[in-house]
Amino acid sequence: MANEDFILLTGRSNPELAESIGKILKTEVTCPISSFSDGEIRVRIKPNLRRRIVFLIQPTSYPVNDHIMELVLMADAAKRASAAEIIAVIPYFGYQRQDRKEMSRVPISASAVSSLLINSGIDRILTIDIHSEQMEGSIKQPWDNLYASYSLLPILKKRYPKNFIVAAPDKGGVLQAVGYAKLLEAEGIAFAYKMREISLNDVSSTLGMIGEVKGKDVLLVDDIIDTAGTIVHAANFIKEKGARSVRVAATHGVFAGDALKKIEDSAIEEMVITDTIKPRDEVLNNKKISIVTVAPLLAEAIRRIRTGESISKALIL
Ligand code: R5P
Repeated sequence: MANEDFILLTGRSNPELAESIGKILKTEVTCPISSFSDGEIRVRIKPNLRRRIVFLIQPTSYPVNDHIMELVLMADAAKRASAAEIIAVIPYFGYQRQDRKEMSRVPISASAVSSLLINSGIDRILTIDIHSEQMEGSIKQPWDNLYASYSLLPILKKRYPKNFIVAAPDKGGVLQAVGYAKLLEAEGIAFAYKMREISLNDVSSTLGMIGEVKGKDVLLVDDIIDTAGTIVHAANFIKEKGARSVRVAATHGVFAGDALKKIEDSAIEEMVITDTIKPRDEVLNNKKISIVTVAPLLAEAIRRIRTGESISKALIL
């Protein structure tokens, strides 16, 4: 198939990741976005899109509302330009944690955002480690969710060849921890549990743990590091319980507020994270943090979507 049957477009959220994907697929990546003087987003796609598959690469990370709007406007432009299929590649899906009604009279924001995307003309969504896979049911269109374990495993296998425990920082992370423990042939599994004060937004603390970590090297895994409260509480707790070392592997590095300082001051020895969100300079230069790219994973998924090959067979570990 010639490359002309598909096109890669990127928003302004993580053009570096889009470029890396383009390099692997030997395809040019175009960013059709600029701003009007009043701050409104301007989209102008120059190449012809008629009957082509359009991949819109855009993690909806901070500033989340701007990045969602860029995606919506690119999709609208592609739809009106007669694209054959419009696929939103959203490595990090903003609002994903607001996926249920935790209390009365609150929105299910993740569902509202996915509906907005579909209404703007998107035919398929591709994400990595979406916070809850049930979100796929919020729309009728196909939603492929990949796992960052595909990208993280090689480095984790190299660094932690034997005798360690995989731990989850909260009950929501149990399945992910079990998955990693299996893939890495870990010696055992442990789970911390926490209490999040919903009305206080981000406040949480680790209350206890199931599993033995005394004298062990522990690898904590999580999907998102946002304020770093969850992971730091769990890491310090595990260290207090006598673990020899605590390391972290996580998918999405938001690092809001003083997250980096918290990590610096914590028991965490090192952290491996992916580039689903464009890493800021202070993340790139942080001595405790290594970044692994998800570009090969997304490039292969894009190639398979384009050719109609199975994604689950090769990419879902
Ligand atoms: C929670 O359910 C998630 O899996 C993450 O643990 C959480 O969102 C991380 O947020 P923070 O870093 O702000 O504690």
